[in-house]
Amino acid sequence: MAISIADGVQVQGGDHLADLLWETDPEIFRFIFRDLQVWRRLFPQEWTAAFGTQQADETRVALDGNRVVGLVNSFAGTEVAARFATTMDRQLAALDPDAGQQLTAAFDAMEWLYPHVPDHALYILNIVIAADMRGQDLGRQLIAEAVAKARRLGLRAVHLDTAVGNPAVHFYQRVGFRAVVESRAMSLPDGVTLPNHLRMVLDIGA
Ligand SMILES: CC(C)(COP(=O)(O)OP(=O)(O)OC[C@H]1O[C@@H](n2cnc3c(N)ncnc32)[C@H](O)[C@@H]1OP(=O)(O)O)[C@@H](O)C(=O)NCCC(=O)NCCS
Repeated sequence: MAISIADGVQVQGGDHLADLLWETDPEIFRFIFRDLQVWRRLFPQEWTAAFGTQQADETRVALDGNRVVGLVNSFAGTEVAARFATTMDRQLAALDPDAGQQLTAAFDAMEWLYPHVPDHALYILNIVIAADMRGQDLGRQLIAEAVAKARRLGLRAVHLDTAVGNPAVHFYQRVGFRAVVESRAMSLPDGVTLPNHLRMVLDIGA
């Protein structure tokens, strides 16, 4: 069946999507939520929220029939801080104090690991293609969706962060991104190590 690209609002925010998102950066997701079950429990409220980091209406999905085989979510650089703050508050309210402390520490560390996103950029928080559907140009199509959104919003670049060893770095380079900053988190909670992360940028002109 041909793959179609659709708005996230057309699909339910269940475990399948939560699992796809987890795959985008398992080390970061584990650092924030400890285990997949916690994220699966929190994800549906993010998907349907009016404002936050992983909302359906800021997401484009690749569909094979009814199955979501890929997604990309993104938002304007001007909104990054407010979106992360809103999501953190919502997730803190749903977690016990111990898990909440971990979440706060993780969000604090990410502020250092992920450089500032300028006002003129669209920020891609997550992009993923299901493992059995990779290598068929779907990732490139989802990047094109993000570029189209950036143009609609009058922005002139697309930014994202990825772990240095992630094979996705080669994908981003193939579709035109270049690495501009490498960040190393040096003061993490006991027992936590995170790979250096790269800020990658695609200039799309005015
Ligand atoms: C990264 C990812 C989204 C790429 O999606 P995809 O649909 O497989 O990529 P495409 O088929 O559109 O590939 C586009 C180009 O990138 C290249 N490419 C894709 N993945 C690559 C890889 N791992 N290594 C080298 N090149 C790669 C392709 O060969 C193609 O190049 P071409 O111009 O020569 O044809 C996908 O591999 C994925 O979901 N990975 C796991 C999740 C993840 O790491 N997300 C990013 C987190 S920051």
